[in-house]
Formats: sequence, structure tokens, C-alpha cells
Amino acid sequence: MASVDVPVALLGYGTVGAAVNRLLTESADDIERATGHRLRLVKALVRDIDKERDYPPAGDVLTTDFREIADDPSIAVVAEVMGGLEPAGTHVLELLRGGKHVVSANKQLIARSGAKLFEAATSTGVQLRFEASVCAAIPVIKVLRESLVVTNVHRVLGIVNGTTNFVLTEMEGGKTYAQALAEAQERGYAEADPTDDVSGADAAAKMAILATVAFKSRFDLADVDYTGITEIDPADVNAARQLDMVIRLVGVAQHLDGHVDVRVHPALVDKQHPLAKVDGAFNAVMLQGDAIREITLEGPGAGGIETASAVIADITTVIGTMRTGFLQNDAAWRVLPKLPPGDNRSPFYFRMSVEDRPGALAQVADELARREISIARLLQHQNGDGAELHVVTHQARQGALEDALVALGELSSVHRRSRPLPVVSDRGVSELGWA
Ligand SMILES: NC(=O)c1ccc[n+]([C@@H]2O[C@H](COP(=O)([O-])OP(=O)(O)OC[C@H]3O[C@@H](n4cnc5c(N)ncnc54)[C@H](OP(=O)(O)O)[C@@H]3O)[C@@H](O)[C@H]2O)c1
Repeated sequence: MASVDVPVALLGYGTVGAAVNRLLTESADDIERATGHRLRLVKALVRDIDKERDYPPAGDVLTTDFREIADDPSIAVVAEVMGGLEPAGTHVLELLRGGKHVVSANKQLIARSGAKLFEAATSTGVQLRFEASVCAAIPVIKVLRESLVVTNVHRVLGIVNGTTNFVLTEMEGGKTYAQALAEAQERGYAEADPTDDVSGADAAAKMAILATVAFKSRFDLADVDYTGITEIDPADVNAARQLDMVIRLVGVAQHLDGHVDVRVHPALVDKQHPLAKVDGAFNAVMLQGDAIREITLEGPGAGGIETASAVIADITTVIGTMRTGFLQNDAAWRVLPKLPPGDNRSPFYFRMSVEDRPGALAQVADELARREISIARLLQHQNGDGAELHVVTHQARQGALEDALVALGELSSVHRRSRPLPVVSDRGVSELGWA
């Protein structure tokens, strides 16, 4: 079969962009054998043409003029690998409206502007693909959209940020949060400004995208309740260890009784749970649903070549389906309401310092019982002239637990209390040991 020449353009030629060009060049024959198309990088938009680059492209590929891409009718497919909301958002919108297919690695853009971008893609009949925006090389979007097209996935559970997972793993080895973060920066796992990662915003954007694709209803970053790892201290890590658990930044998206809840929080994860075994900068996503029970995908969630492999996979899917229209629609075709705040249910862990006097423990149990929260495990340590209580609850409404903790915080016998952290365990919290 005669090969078809496909001119491709990039917005951005940084870590991912250069890796896309390297893979396109080195794997051109493989791609051609597999697809019958020869992909050729013809333009790449950058800020500074004279910058020294890892894998410099040939000839006059680099440009600072977006019009050279937008106005070139021979370019049918563009990969957006520049990052940031603007000008990436305006450029992608214009390309889609102009009838060009777009592949993006930009989770913040897809999670915040997905609705607008898909509307534009639908109006001109082109594709917007975004595999690389979630967990880099792990093909979770493709699995959800294609392999599980008739499976009712009702829960997605994941470790979707490698930087925070590395920091938390290092803290298990005895480092403080600051020491672990410095180590992550030294090894290139964390940016000089790690705010997006450690605040949970990066993981929240990925969970919004996963929820949208899994439940076929749009969830934006604003729909995700998230906290990061900046307040995790060695006391949390030690408490988790005593419970035979580890702390992980866990993303959860659930479709329950017609409502959807998407959240990202540090959680205590049972050491026997698959997510507890995800160490260092790796990512893992567990998909739970009717018929499939559970599928876990694990792998490198970042890196230039890893992300580029997903970008190229999306480009080849686009060229392979350009004329058939297979699976090019917006994944979100229905509206599902968000679970009201506080209605999320989980077992939780919290700890508090109380006066060591008769009745103090009873007051804690009483405030919890009044809100129908029962204690699964309780451990008491002497701590100076007081006592430190470590509590694991059975399934509880988060809002009810937060109310109880506010009420307990007002008691003179309670000196300090931690935030509640959800507990992830398949063996039931009563079985958890104080190891
Ligand atoms: N790196 C990873 O491991 C990874 C993993 C998953 C997803 N991603 C996503 O992939 C995207 C790219 O990441 P990256 O690490 O490759 O970023 P990067 O190394 O900072 O590269 C960004 C590229 O975009 C260009 N650029 C930025 N702003 C521009 C502007 N206003 N006008 C023209 N060009 C502009 C830069 O030009 P100059 O070169 O001239 O500065 C650079 O070539 C981001 O959305 C990121 O979230 C990255």
C-alpha cells in the first residue's frame, strides 16, 4: 500500500516536544509499517529560536510565529506540548475551529477548558485527544474509552502524581517533608516551583479528566475537592506505619447513586492494598466496574519520552481514524450531579491530644456517636501530662466527622486535633493492626 505523507506540527519544543521529534524520527519506519502513514515534523512553535536544544530539529522547523502553523493547510494534525493555560488555550481553540486535529499533553488546559475545546472540535468534525495529559505513558484514557466502552466503570482510584508519591515514599524512609522535596528536586522529579504538584492541583486536574471519561459527564478542576501533601509530617507517617499502612496522595472518582464525587487527598493506605506498593515516582490507576471487577494500570507517570510515546500514540490514532470518525466524539455526553459537599463516605483516621483525666475519652466517643460515627480502632499513647489518641472510624460521612471534630476542638479537654485522613483498605478497618 502506498504510504501517505503526514505533515505534523508541534506547539512547544521543550522536554516533551523534543522527545516527540526524537521518537517520530527514530520510529518513522515502525509507524509507517503500522499505519501506512509517514509522519514528518514540519513546524514547532517556541518562544526562543536561538535557545540550545537537546535534540534540535532540522532546517527551519522552529518558529515563533503561530500563523505558520495555523494558516498552513497542509498541516492536519498538531500536538500541543507547550503547557500553561495561555496562549496554549487560544491556540488550540483556533486550530480546532480551523479544522485541524489536536493532541494535547496539557492536563490543566483539558481539565479547565475541556467543554469549550470539545465544542469547537465537534463543530468542525475534528478530534481532540489527550492521553498524554494523564499519567504520561500509561494508556488509561484509551483503555477507558475503547477497551471498556461497554463497561460501567463506577470507581477510579489512583496515584496520579509521581512527585508527591516520591516525596511520601522518601518520608517513609525517615526524611522530613522539606528534605524529601529537596531530594525530588535534585533528582528532577519536582519542578523548581513544585506548587502544582504538592498542592494536589496536578492530581486534581488528572482526576477531573479521568472522571469525565469514566462517567461520560464533564467534571472540571473546580469540581474536584483536593488537598495536597504540604501538611503531612513525620507524625502522620509514623501513625500510618503503626497501623500497618502508608500515606499516599490518592485520587478517587466515584459514581454512586446518580451522583459523582471526585477528590484528591492524602490517605492512609493499607499496606496490603495495591496502591501501597506504588513507590517512588510511579503512577497507578485502578478501574473498578461491573463485569471487569478491577483493572490496575501502573507505570511511569511523567518524563519526556514517556509522555511523547502517548502523544505519538494519539497522533497515530487520529490519522488512523480521520476518515472513519471512530471514537472522535467528546467523551462527556450526559450531565451527572456532583455529590453534595460532606456526603463523601469513607473510613477515616484522625488523632488528637486530650487531657489525661477520667471522662475525656468518653467525651470523644460521645461526640462521634451523636453523629452516628463508630470507632473501629483506637490507640492511646501517654504524651507528657496528656494522652494522644489515634482513632480509625468505620465508614462515616466526612461532613459529620468534620462537625464532630469542630465540636471536640471546642472542649477544654482537647488540646490539638489533626485533619481526618481517609483510609484505603480492602480488608476492613477492624482487621487493621497496630503493627
Ligand atoms: N515533562 C513531563 O514529564 C510531562 C509529563 C506529562 C505531561 N507534560 C505536559 O506536557 C506539556 C509540555 O511539558 P514540557 O515539560 O515539555 O515543558 P517545557 O520543557 O517547559 O517546554 C515548553 C515548550 O513550549 C514553548 N512555549 C512555552 N510558552 C510558549 C509561548 N508563549 N509561545 C511559544 N512557545 C512557548 C517553549 O518554548 P522555548 O523552548 O523557546 O522556551 C518550550 O519549547 C505541559 O503541558 C506538561 O504539563 C509534561
